[in-house]
Amino acid sequence: MNQESKIHLHLERVMRPIESASGLPNECYTDASTFKLDRDRVIAQGWACVGFGTDVPNNWAVPITFMGYPILLTRNSAGVLKVFHNVCSHRGMQLVLEAGKLGTGLIRCKYHSWTYDFDGNLKGTPMIGGTDSNKHNDFDPTVNGLRPIANTVWMDNIFINLSGDAEPFEKFIAPLMHRWSKWVSPESLKELTPGIDAKMELVVKSNWKLAVENFLESYHLPWVHPNLNSYSPLEKHYDIDRGENFAGQGSSSYTAPAGANGNISSWPGKELNFAEYPVLYPNTLLGLQSDHFFTMCIIPIDETTSLERVQLMFLGEVATDDKYAEHRKSLIKTWNEVFSEDIFAVEGMQAGRQSPAYRGGVFSPVMDQHTLHFHQWVAKRLAKE
Ligand code: FES
Ligand SMILES: [Fe+2]
Repeated sequence: MNQESKIHLHLERVMRPIESASGLPNECYTDASTFKLDRDRVIAQGWACVGFGTDVPNNWAVPITFMGYPILLTRNSAGVLKVFHNVCSHRGMQLVLEAGKLGTGLIRCKYHSWTYDFDGNLKGTPMIGGTDSNKHNDFDPTVNGLRPIANTVWMDNIFINLSGDAEPFEKFIAPLMHRWSKWVSPESLKELTPGIDAKMELVVKSNWKLAVENFLESYHLPWVHPNLNSYSPLEKHYDIDRGENFAGQGSSSYTAPAGANGNISSWPGKELNFAEYPVLYPNTLLGLQSDHFFTMCIIPIDETTSLERVQLMFLGEVATDDKYAEHRKSLIKTWNEVFSEDIFAVEGMQAGRQSPAYRGGVFSPVMDQHTLHFHQWVAKRLAKE
């Protein structure tokens, strides 16, 4: 029986009610073949976060690798961001090898020097018709531009939809925005902008799904985050109502750190102690507080390695002014400590998935509801041919 058939057999157990369900099998975390299945059936079909708008200044082209695919992010002089497959239409050379500014506005392939503009149009094909001609009657440059990838930017997160047939992003994000409408409106969220020097990265030796699963529950708080638990204890955390594409937890004992300097204007004064931490499936982890916002984007590197990229957003001048540099630094440090505390747990779960004695485990019917919700969300997509 091949790997895929084995996984399919197990998926029925994942779809059971929580009392009798077990989680995704080890192969979903340990095999290169299932990593590709994750890409093609789970991640490609939806809206995946691949980075931040601040990664791509105007007139820059930035190559990234996402689950094995070479992808190109560009931003033209007017600030318009586009996403393409990073491959030359000619002989399939990876088009852009290094991030950089392109003063000419043209992206040039290093192999035979074909050029594309920032909209992906093929602009130059030197000597395509022989040493004395840059054209050929049988070659139509207008149908040989770069292949675009559906994308959008929300809260400075760059989302892509590889399959091109996901529901519109506005529809995808609407249930979460509806949930959050008691605190913020789409307009009031615009008061937050990316902080200067407010990014960090952590590499974890675990499958991307374990990083997601760990973020979905607060059950581990007392043991993994004793310090956090001392001022935001487990009993003050609650499960947020699961949506079709998100789940997560909230806290009713949030206190903005000293120096935060204000709150999002729409946030009711009596609710400032609320904060929520949902995962927007598949790979976007969010933190909404009245004074700042963060995203942790989980980039799956391979089946046992993930990159966690975090960016914080702040209110108005807190995001950019030098006088708040220390505040931004201190908040990055705090979150870095919290997220670093989780590493041994996700890496330990990864190591545990090498054991033949583990076949998906069991769940607390109370504390692991979201974890199973995510497993089932993944399982439903894996089951589709
Ligand atoms: S492969 Fe790019 S120009 Fe030939
Ligand atoms: Fe944690």
